[in-house]
Amino acid sequence: MDDTLPTRLQSVAELDELLSRPSPGLVAFMGQLDGDLMVVGAGGKIGPTMARLAQRAVAAAGVRKTVFAVDVAPLEALAAAGIETIRCDLMDLDAVARLPKPKNIVYMIGRKFGSTGAESLTWAINCVAAYHAARAFQGCRVAGFSTGCVYPVMHLSSGGATEQTPVEPVGEYAQSCLGRERMWDGFADQGKLDVVHIRLNYAVECRYGVLYDVGSKVWAGEPVDVTTGYANVIWQGDACNQILQALALASHPGTILNVTGPETFSIRQVAQQFGRLMDRQPTFTGAENGRGYLNNASAANGRFGNPTVPLSRIVDYTAQWIMAGGETLGKPTHFETQDGKY
Ligand SMILES: NC(=O)c1ccc[n+]([C@@H]2O[C@H](COP(=O)([O-])OP(=O)(O)OC[C@H]3O[C@@H](n4cnc5c(N)ncnc54)[C@H](O)[C@@H]3O)[C@@H](O)[C@H]2O)c1
Repeated sequence: MDDTLPTRLQSVAELDELLSRPSPGLVAFMGQLDGDLMVVGAGGKIGPTMARLAQRAVAAAGVRKTVFAVDVAPLEALAAAGIETIRCDLMDLDAVARLPKPKNIVYMIGRKFGSTGAESLTWAINCVAAYHAARAFQGCRVAGFSTGCVYPVMHLSSGGATEQTPVEPVGEYAQSCLGRERMWDGFADQGKLDVVHIRLNYAVECRYGVLYDVGSKVWAGEPVDVTTGYANVIWQGDACNQILQALALASHPGTILNVTGPETFSIRQVAQQFGRLMDRQPTFTGAENGRGYLNNASAANGRFGNPTVPLSRIVDYTAQWIMAGGETLGKPTHFETQDGKY
């Protein structure tokens, strides 16, 4: 157990500090990485952690490297933290052409929620923006965010999808995420850029994620749906530490890296743990059908080691956060979904 972990997180500042804490491995990696770095899609749930972490790792490594953060949304908080921010709509080909072209790109743009009924917008953002980026970032090294949802819904007995599991995306969000990978592949296959596709399952922190969703239901006395009875999650800071280092794996043709935590946990059991911490009796709906978006990240875990913030600690942090009425991003994950409709 890492004894530098705080016992509780009492403010957004404390949460951001832990989320953006660079690991020794990342600091060493940043020390030898050539070129500047750009986080594209830095204004979402994960992007601010990614940009702050990259900047702290550069500072800790004592190297000179500019970290750019790009989004169509405002990025004032990152600008205030000294990060070079750029407002850009990746759907606008001319605007994309004006972006700087650093050697290293972490690409995080995507659209998920609201996809049902607005499928064309989801396809456009997930594929057209990625095409514009791939066209503009030829010659670069790219860690491109994807999702474990490009794999089929897996049975618990499978051990989760590995990088060798054939893709079988369910529903238009997941299909368009595979399309996003293919936009990068179109250039990587021709040797025009290097890419590693990051198939992520559920980043979590105190303000959103599968654990926040379960914990806030328990706290509110609402039933927890256990139909999708098992999940994998990873502390968002650990995910970002791994993904930045995964830039080393980018190749042409592209390669794949699953990123999630090492445990496949029971939603029911985690809800009961929240119940004990919160002094609440959880209630349940549905029955486990043994299936879910289960992702096997043994390869990443073997390369980068166990996450620094273990599952039980994230449950503790999240329970304390919810009980204290801490800030929420108000973005439920809909992890219960198995039909691909978001
Ligand atoms: N959060 C998770 O647990 C999770 C799990 C699996 C996969 N992912 C993938 O990781 C990526 C990042 O996750 P997130 O949760 O931060 O996503 P998010 O939806 O919160 O953020 C996406 C960002 O992209 C930006 N964006 C959208 N359209 C744009 C455009 N035309 N031009 C410029 N910026 C634009 C948005 O403003 C937003 O800041 C997503 O694309 C998603 O597919 C996330």
